Amino acid sequence: MCVPADVRTFPNPQLVAQAVAQELTFLFQKLGKTQDLVTVAFSGGSTPKLLFKELLTHSTSLPWEKTHVFLVDERWVPVEHEERNFRVLKELLLDHVPIPSRNVHPMPVAQPDPAVASADYELTLGQVFGIQQPDIPAFDLVLLGLGSDGHTASMFPGEPSQVPLTTDRWVVAPYVPKLASYRMTLTLRVLNNARNVWFLVTGPSKEEILPVVLGKEPFDISLYPSQAVDPPNPPVWWVDEEAATKLNKTN
Ligand code: 6PG
Repeated sequence: MCVPADVRTFPNPQLVAQAVAQELTFLFQKLGKTQDLVTVAFSGGSTPKLLFKELLTHSTSLPWEKTHVFLVDERWVPVEHEERNFRVLKELLLDHVPIPSRNVHPMPVAQPDPAVASADYELTLGQVFGIQQPDIPAFDLVLLGLGSDGHTASMFPGEPSQVPLTTDRWVVAPYVPKLASYRMTLTLRVLNNARNVWFLVTGPSKEEILPVVLGKEPFDISLYPSQAVDPPNPPVWWVDEEAATKLNKTN
């Protein structure tokens, strides 16, 4: 029996961002009381921008000294490029909060060799989490977006982008034909080992894909990689009414 997904719907993107910021603050305050390390991985794209701004209003309540911030994925563009996910996260949030620089982990896409760069990021993960293969980093929270084509992170439909879905690696940097570019991304193995996975999905461009991914109808992770995100603690879907237009109550 398909367990109905935990979908939390709000009237607009701003209210989604406010609710997520509130819940993230509550979660990190709780974790900060019992853990020496709180780990989070943020996705890029446009949806998280409102969240980054909302988190600023909670800044004094967050355990920044213990919090390590990673990226879910990164575009293969120069450091200052406007498309750089880390640049957006840094300018909207990290530059304005008291997080130690040693706790901030951008993906090293300035490296010329994607294989070397992804291996470097795996070393960083291993150092912060204090583990090595075959163990898997267990993020306290991973925040994901949903592309209108069904991708999440940089796990895109079709070959050869399937590597992030099948590999035992923690980080890979596949060439993505539809983007004609490389991407660096956490792999499904890491996403599915997270203690909390939250999807943030807003706007009319997601109204068609959301029921397909949530309803898993049809279920095809090569076409809809987001369907493969299935951690032990099921994801929470934070959506606005526009993205949820075509959801029925059983989703
Ligand atoms: C990226 C993201 C990507 C994003 C989706 C949704 O680098 O683009 O990590 O996976 O989450 O494409 O993007 P929007 O939030 O802009 O719709």
